[in-house]
Amino acid sequence: MTSSEIRQAYLDFFRDRGHAIVPSAPIVVKNDPTLMFTNAGMNQFKDYFLGNKKAPNARVADTQKCLRVSGKHNDLEEVGVDTYHHTMFEMLGNWSFGDYFKKEAIEWSWELLTSVYKIPKDRLYVTVFEGDEKEGLPRDEEAATEWKKWIAEDRILLGNKKDNFWEMGDTGPCGPCTEIHVDCRNDEERKLVDGKTLVNNDHPQVIEIWNNVFIQFNRQKDGSLVSLPQKHVDTGMGFERLVRVLQGKQSNYDTDVFSNTIAKIAEITGRKYDYSDSREAIAFRVLADHIRAISFTIADGQLPSNTGAGYVIRRILRRAVRYYYSYLNYRQPLLHQLLPVIAQQFAAVFPELISQESFVARVIREEEEAFLRTLEKRPAPHR
Ligand code: GLY
Repeated sequence: MTSSEIRQAYLDFFRDRGHAIVPSAPIVVKNDPTLMFTNAGMNQFKDYFLGNKKAPNARVADTQKCLRVSGKHNDLEEVGVDTYHHTMFEMLGNWSFGDYFKKEAIEWSWELLTSVYKIPKDRLYVTVFEGDEKEGLPRDEEAATEWKKWIAEDRILLGNKKDNFWEMGDTGPCGPCTEIHVDCRNDEERKLVDGKTLVNNDHPQVIEIWNNVFIQFNRQKDGSLVSLPQKHVDTGMGFERLVRVLQGKQSNYDTDVFSNTIAKIAEITGRKYDYSDSREAIAFRVLADHIRAISFTIADGQLPSNTGAGYVIRRILRRAVRYYYSYLNYRQPLLHQLLPVIAQQFAAVFPELISQESFVARVIREEEEAFLRTLEKRPAPHR
């Protein structure tokens, strides 16, 4: 399946189960003082979870542009160095606002992964919340019972509060979660080391792909948890990781989500991407990742600047410039040249980029030129 087909199959699956398919919210958050950027698909539905507003549809699904570069969820330093973290990524999500709960969420996630996407069952593991005494939270027996209907018991693992209790930020909606992990190693390696020992252990081939959160609480400023009037489902599946699993690749960057951008970087710089951990290969991955974050945030109305969200974008852009300047030995503005590739790639799903392509390219180019002038005067240290 191509990445477009994979995305569509997700939306079709949930549409067939009564979900309204809604557009992604902007990646830049303007109306929530607890958040600069959308860091999860559920952000735009926060008021429905908290009971402040009534959801027009009790079941919703979408693909959401997310950015995890600040605050509680921040992956920036891993990006490009490893093969499966991103600044901007798409999160496929399905939601229930006071409607279905653990039984359906678990059953449907299993059905989608194993029957539609056909991921072999012996490559899957799930984790459920083990409980937390300090918080007064019990083990999630209900999720474990539901999973036992579908997956062998020795593939159901317990996870702690860090991994299996999801919170949007320091305050706000939260609850226990069950995660689905895939073991992408070859059979030989799988025989040698039991996959379950590698779950949640930063193994590049044993990765979490889907988180099903059961939103039940509102975390208060004083740290206490207040039960919500209704129970909700909030799921998030990393699209780029899913594509990598389904396309049988070792790295997200080897999928058709990134391959055109990587080919364009090779064409511009006259260098070859060699899939390794070299600084040069990391630079390819950093550029392929960062151009998406930079372009979509600008298209959604956030210009690079010296403060707040604008400063975060400027830092991401400068990180990319440093990488091509230092490790690809490219001394002209490069990033803006990648824009046609990604604007075209996302034209059908996020048309806001192609409709503002020349504006976004101009903003990026001006930023690059200004920062390259600084680097020429005084090379900045790599970070
Ligand atoms: N809200 C679920 C997740 O981001 O994993």
